[in-house]
This record gives sequence, C-alpha cells and structure tokens, in this order.
Amino acid sequence: MSRFPYLDEYDVHRTMPDEGTAREEILAMMNDMAVRENVVWEDGQCSGTMYCGDHDHYDFLNAAFSNFSYVNTLQRDMCPSATKFEAEIIAMTLDMLRVGSLEGKNPGGLVTSGGSGSIAHAVLAYREGNPSVARANMIKPETAHPAFAKAGHLFGVDMKIAPVDPVTLQVDLEWVRANIDDNTVALVGSAPNYGYGTVDPITELGALALEHGIGLHVDGCLGGFLLPFGRELGYDIPAFDFTVPGVTTISADTHKYGYALKGTSVLAFADQSLRNSQYFYLTDWSGGKYCSPGMDGSRSGGLLAATWAAMVSLGRAGYLRYAKAIFETSAAMQDAIRSHPSLRVMGKPSFLFSFTSDEFDIYLVNDFLRTKGWRMNGQQYPNAIHMAVTRPQTQPGVVERWTSDLAEAVAYAKAHRDEPAKSGAIYGGVAGGMSDEADEFIRAVMADMMDQQASIPPA
Ligand SMILES: Cc1ncc(COP(=O)(O)O)c(C=O)c1O
Repeated sequence: MSRFPYLDEYDVHRTMPDEGTAREEILAMMNDMAVRENVVWEDGQCSGTMYCGDHDHYDFLNAAFSNFSYVNTLQRDMCPSATKFEAEIIAMTLDMLRVGSLEGKNPGGLVTSGGSGSIAHAVLAYREGNPSVARANMIKPETAHPAFAKAGHLFGVDMKIAPVDPVTLQVDLEWVRANIDDNTVALVGSAPNYGYGTVDPITELGALALEHGIGLHVDGCLGGFLLPFGRELGYDIPAFDFTVPGVTTISADTHKYGYALKGTSVLAFADQSLRNSQYFYLTDWSGGKYCSPGMDGSRSGGLLAATWAAMVSLGRAGYLRYAKAIFETSAAMQDAIRSHPSLRVMGKPSFLFSFTSDEFDIYLVNDFLRTKGWRMNGQQYPNAIHMAVTRPQTQPGVVERWTSDLAEAVAYAKAHRDEPAKSGAIYGGVAGGMSDEADEFIRAVMADMMDQQASIPPA
C-alpha cells in the first residue's frame, strides 16, 4: 500500500472536525497541493489527461462554473440558462459532427458525465431501441475502450470482441461480418482508439451496419473534438462522422479535446428516436412524476455553463488553431521515433501514437524516459507505450526534449536489453489476463484509493 498522501503536512480527518476550519486555511492547503501536483504535467511530459493545460482557460471556466455550480439542472423552471447551455452544447456538437448531411433524420444528443457515460448510454439505447431482441449483443474491436465491456456488463448486453489486424491495428471487418447474428443490435468503431490512435474503417463498418439493419456507434470520445479539425487542416483522416452512411451514434468528449472542465461528454444521435428509447421515467411514484434525460439525477448547472463557455470562447478558429499545433507536434514526435530503426510506430496513428520495439522490451525505454520525467501510458499484447499529444506538449522545447531523451532511452534499452524492465503495462499492472493474482492486485489498487484511512497510523 502506498503512503497516505500529505501525511506529514496536513491533519488527517478520521472524523469530522468538531469545529469548522477557517476557509483561508482550507484554500491555502488546497492551493499548495494543486500547485505541487500541476508540476507533474505542466512541462508537457505527461501523455493525455490534461487536454488544454492553459491556466487562463481553466480560470475562465472556473468563473463560468461558479455562477451555476450550486444549481440543480433537474429543476429547469429555476434555471432556464441550463436549457440554453445544454441545447446549444448539443447543437454545436451535432453540427461539428456533420448532422447536416443526414436526410430524413431528426438528430439529437445527450450531455453525459464523460466518455464512459456516453458509451454506457449508447449501449443502453441500442438495447432499449431493440425490445424484440431478448439478449442483445454488440460487436466491438478489441481495441475499443473498456467502457463498452463495462456497459455491456451493467446492462446485460453481450460484447463480442472482434480482433484487430496486428499491422494496421484496425478492426478485422471479415470477423465482424461473420459474427453478426440475429441478436446483434450495433457495431462499434473507434475514432481513434485509446491504445494506438488508429481509426477503424468506419465507412466499411457503416456499410455492414446498413446491410444488416443495425446501429453503428463511433467512439469519438478522444477524437470527436479533434479529428474534425484535423480533417479540415488536410490531415489524412478517414471520414468518421455522420457523413458516413450507417453511423447512428457518436460519443465526443467535451472534457477531453473539447477543453471543458472534467465531467461532461456528448452522445450524438443521428435520430432522436434512439435517444428517446433509453429514457427512464416513473410516472406513478408517490413523490411525483419523475424523469431525467440520462442515468444521472441531479447535475450541476456549473458543468453545462463551463462546457458551453469553453466551446463559445474558443470557437471554430480556436479549436482549429489548437488542432494544428497538436497534429504538428504529434508528427514531429513520431518522426523522432521513426529515426530509430529499433523502434516501430504501430499502425497509422493520428494525434495519439504508440510504439514498440522488435529488438528489446519497450518498457526499458519507458524506464529511462521516467527518469527524465516523462509519463507515458503502457500497453500489452505486445508491450508498447503510447503518447496522447495534448496542448502541454505543444509548448516550445518539448519536441526537442522528447527527441534527445528518446535517443538516450534507446541507447539505455540497448545496453540493458538482457535485464527485465522495471515498468510494466500500466493498464492492469500485472502480466497476463484475469487471474486470482490480478484480481487481488486490482482490489488492492482500489483499496489504495479509497480505504486508506484504515491504515493511517494513529496521531
Ligand atoms: C477512446 C476512448 N473512449 C472512451 C474513453 C472513456 O472516457 P472517460 O474516461 O471520460 O470515461 C476514453 C478515455 O480515455 C477513450 O480514450
């Protein structure tokens, strides 16, 4: 178990304090923690996670949030602003995802709590939209995010896992075709996937979906707010939006490359009827008639306000400018990798790339990069590491640091190729698939996050 954070610096509250603590003291403590924790990513050496990284932008969003942070969006009579913000977030996202190309449809959307929320709502909608199917299934590429498996587990929808081509890292279309059955309600493609940054063949998946009269969900949680601008800039990115016939839903995370605060995503529907099928309401409850658009009950108006503020303040020009810097930075970082014959970039990545080595364990490279302050994400089958390029990497000097640190890391890996690497696949943390040992390890990681109060030494 790791050491309880800030144990030596700040009081540990095992019980609520008898008397309240001064606000200035609380804010000073939090500011101290935030400043120290921000250092981890501010230099641009951390993959993903901090998508904007601009403190001015965060201050602005926090100001927008604070106007409505305490507002419950369920009570719309009290906050018509929430209706304006939510409707416009959905409309702007639908437009960006090109619903204008849909004919005879009535597009709609849902603002959810994040990527997993959007994916869960999509899975629920496909189940509920197909009431005649007793036990629905969906087909997802192995590389699609675990949120699909989680949603399938929660909602009783079987996820058939389609293999991906080991070279292109795109879903095996023939496998998908051969495995569609009478209970298949939808297919999944990623634009792009989390591991490799590759985009699945959405056009071909759309054709399959149309042929079988089923849905196609495009997971644009990562790329939804970036790929449209990359395409506009002329990057070679295949169509993935509602211009592709057969696409019925797209998830696009405002809290990633939408540069909003954490806690929102948009699930876009080609047609509102599918969205409406997943509503839950209780009309005969003694407490009154209850309905909410998604799985959440009360939601903060602040998040809608801040998301709307991010989109409107940046505008298309802002998103385009940020996308240009991110795509250029990613290309330069990939060039540095390709300059080493012992390294191999996997598939045809986008702004997010992944690389491995056929000569040594790539985690040796990661071991060295860690000593230089890089925080990459780890993969398995085969071992690989990836970098989701975000705005902090676009700062001056980061590509140069990457290039020189990577060269040293390769030299280190070659020199230590007979030794085991210290860093392992982060997603999972233990080698191999599910086992008693993995189960125990994962429970220990969870306990580390939530139950540490039991282990804190007495004061
Ligand atoms: C492609 C993709 N889909 C879905 C998700 C899940 O998003 P969230 O963590 O916001 O639930 C992620 C998260 O990284 C992702 O990369």
